[in-house]
Amino acid sequence: MAMQKVLVVGASGHIGRYAALAFKKRGWFVRVLVRDPEKLKRPGPFGEPLLEGVVDEIVTGDAAKPDTLFGIADGIDTVFSSMGLRSSKPGMSYHDIDYLGNANILQEVMLHDVQKFIYVSIFKADEMMEMQIVKAHEDFVQALKDSGIDYSILRPNAYFSDMLQFQKMATSGVIIWPGDGSLRINPIHGEDMGDICVDTAAPGHQEIDIGGPDIFTYKEMFTLAFTTIDKEPRIIFIPLWIVKGLHSFIKPLNARIADMLAFAIAVNEIDNTAPRYGERHMKDFFETFGGKNRTD
Ligand SMILES: NC(=O)c1ccc[n+]([C@@H]2O[C@H](COP(=O)([O-])OP(=O)(O)OC[C@H]3O[C@@H](n4cnc5c(N)ncnc54)[C@H](OP(=O)(O)O)[C@@H]3O)[C@@H](O)[C@H]2O)c1
Repeated sequence: MAMQKVLVVGASGHIGRYAALAFKKRGWFVRVLVRDPEKLKRPGPFGEPLLEGVVDEIVTGDAAKPDTLFGIADGIDTVFSSMGLRSSKPGMSYHDIDYLGNANILQEVMLHDVQKFIYVSIFKADEMMEMQIVKAHEDFVQALKDSGIDYSILRPNAYFSDMLQFQKMATSGVIIWPGDGSLRINPIHGEDMGDICVDTAAPGHQEIDIGGPDIFTYKEMFTLAFTTIDKEPRIIFIPLWIVKGLHSFIKPLNARIADMLAFAIAVNEIDNTAPRYGERHMKDFFETFGGKNRTD
């Protein structure tokens, strides 16, 4: 059988780096699309692999600029996209990048003989559609389904690296959190997620929810964030009704802060336990990166 060829979009990011490496390890030809190839010369901030010299081809393009995407999918069998905005910025919204950017990629892909498109969306998106980031992801999911191409939709609940924000707070001495910390979550390591990305390249529509092997209540997660840096846990819970009141007040004034509050409310109203995959453990990750935050 001829060597399978994948295009990875979002390859300078957390999951994109692991996905590109996982495809390579399984014998695929790997082309990556990035805005800044320089980033691939170094590992990512949390142990994500460097890709220069590892992947077969690096092409430069910006998903927000369709004229930079010409030919990206030429000769490609499968496209994988974990491309999106980490946080919205003035002049650049989730709608612009997560939806329109991925739609630009899809439009270019449809001009070529691509068999499959794998996209990373969000766990329980249907219960959080009021959040702009979630809506933008799901608008693209709908466009992908409407396109007629074979697809896989991956729905992770959270990544280990996102939990470092809690350890950063723990380092400063206290974690302040809405609700009572009783709901649960089981984040996944990026490397475990990378393996699943390749598994879902098999033909046939798939939509899978993904979590990691260890389930925590938020309170347990916070406690682990403290104990792995040898600190006594100090957690302050703010009643949810206060956060909800603040959200209603802020919503017409500041969409970005309103979205952050909506997220804080959602994680206190939705059980975030997803089917368990992978074999890497949160405790080890906290111990390795103790106190360092993803946004450092
Ligand atoms: N964090 C979570 O807990 C969570 C949970 C469920 C789902 N997800 C979703 O999982 C996906 C992957 O997350 P991640 O942590 O890997 O994200 P990430 O580290 O922020 O990576 C995003 C990637 O998208 C690229 N990108 C952004 N704008 C671009 C543009 N205009 N053109 C080309 N590339 C562009 C970034 O490139 P640059 O390096 O050039 O910026 C980066 O490579 C995201 O869609 C995220 O929403 C996240």
